[in-house]
Formats: sequence, structure tokens, C-alpha cells
Amino acid sequence: MFAVSDLHVTFAENREFIASLPAFPHDWLLVAGDVAEKVADIEWTLRALRARFATVVWVPGNHELWSLGTDPVQLRGEARYQYLVAMCRRVGVITPEDPFPLWRGADGPMVIVPLFVLYDYSFRPEGTTTKSEALAVAYETGIVCSDEAVLYPDPYPSRDAWCHARVQVTEPRLAELPRGIPTLLLSHFPLTREPTLVLKYPEFAQWCGTELTADWHVRFGARVVVYGHLHIPGTTWQDGVRFEEVSFGYPGEVEIYPDRPRCLRQILPTEPECCATGTTVAVTKSV
Ligand SMILES: [Fe+2]
Ligand SMILES: [Fe+2]
Repeated sequence: MFAVSDLHVTFAENREFIASLPAFPHDWLLVAGDVAEKVADIEWTLRALRARFATVVWVPGNHELWSLGTDPVQLRGEARYQYLVAMCRRVGVITPEDPFPLWRGADGPMVIVPLFVLYDYSFRPEGTTTKSEALAVAYETGIVCSDEAVLYPDPYPSRDAWCHARVQVTEPRLAELPRGIPTLLLSHFPLTREPTLVLKYPEFAQWCGTELTADWHVRFGARVVVYGHLHIPGTTWQDGVRFEEVSFGYPGEVEIYPDRPRCLRQILPTEPECCATGTTVAVTKSV
């Protein structure tokens, strides 16, 4: 089982990576959001991946939920998300709205749990206690996520209200999972605050997750948590659970961080630091 996030195929180099991938007919691929902004680009990518992997599971990132004036699909918020879910069903890709698939391969069985929970501004900068205080600090420092301009929460009054609605529909499904079978939690946004503590701009953390999911990896029996959004790929451990940030990232980040692998990360079996690139499967240095 491989995972990748933040493919951002709007960039030609990233699209080329997808186009040049070989087939992995016996393997699964988890796609943890930020594939692209326009529906046509998201569909092109998921079709290309579905043609190469036995099973593809996708969760939305913030970029899929952007409503740009240049996208012929002008849907916003929940309607846009549901449109993407319907597209995935046509393509044969599993989404957070489908029954959770069971991985029976190496290191299994494991329930694969795709999550769409968004964020609620609760990863606030130091010294702030409310969303408006947190946002004020962000606007003062000039570190404001583009979501504020182009990620509409319709029909919810705010992105945090949408996040809370998502937590409300998701938690009961997790509570119903059979005991004794470990889970793999897949989310675009980090489920805990820890990974955001190393952000260059700490004000950005408020667009990265919600405190409401802080104990989900313990409560819901996770063996692995896979996420992206931060563009800081690497493996960390919390409460004995493996957390994998699997961002592919922007082409420009290659020069700034030449050591970061741009690849599909092997998640299972647990052979860490195994990386599939466009043409080969190689073992890379951990980051
Ligand atoms: Fe991203
Ligand atoms: Fe993101």
C-alpha cells in the first residue's frame, strides 16, 4: 500500500510524474488531498491513478474545495464536495462517503478510514483564545491562507461550522468500527496539532486541523495515520502510532528542500522509507 498527498498537478512537472508512473496492479494507493483545484484536473489524475492501482482511496484537501473563477464547475462548499464524490464513484475511487474498505494485504487486516473533517481555527497562535483573535494575528503578519478567499463553506455559515458538521457525521461511523481490527486513518489535514508546531509561520496552523480529532488515533485504534497539507513529508510517532506526512509538494520546493523525496510512500507492509518514483521503487533516506 502506497500513499501520497499534495500532488498539485496544476504544475506541469507534477502532472508529468503522474503520467510517467508505471502500473502497480496488486497495490493500493491512498491519495490524501490537494490533487488540484479544477475538477477536470482532479478527474484526470484520479483516472490515471485508478488505471495503475488495484484500489485508489481519495480524501479532499482544501485545494479541491476551492471555487476558482477559471473552473467551468462553479459549485461551492458541500455541493462541490458531493460533486467530487459523484465523480469518484464514476471513476471507481473510494471516498469518505463510502463504506470503509478492509485491507487484507501484508500487515493486515486493517480498516482504511478516509476522513473529511476540515479545520476550525482551533490550532491558534500563542496568546490568542478565539478564532477572531487568531485570524487578526494572521492578517497582521500577512500569513493568511488562500482558503479565506476561495474555499466557500456553503451552505454552512463558516468553514469551522462545516468542520463541526463533518466531525458530527464522522465520529459515529468511527465508533461503530469493529473492535480488534486496527485502523488506518487517512486525512488531508493533520489530526493532531503536533506536526504543525514546526511550521515556519505558526499563524498558518489555524487552517490545518481541529482539536476535536486530537485523540482519534487512540480512540479509534489506529495503527497508522496518513495525512498531508503541510508539505513536510516524514514519519513521526505519537502514543505509539505511526504518523506519515506524505506530501509530494510544489516543484519549487525541490530546490529549497532537495533532501525531501518526491514519490509515493510505501505505508504497508511496514518497510519505512520505501519510495516509488516515476520509474522505480527505491529506498530513500528518511526525512
Ligand atoms: Fe498542498
Ligand atoms: Fe492543503
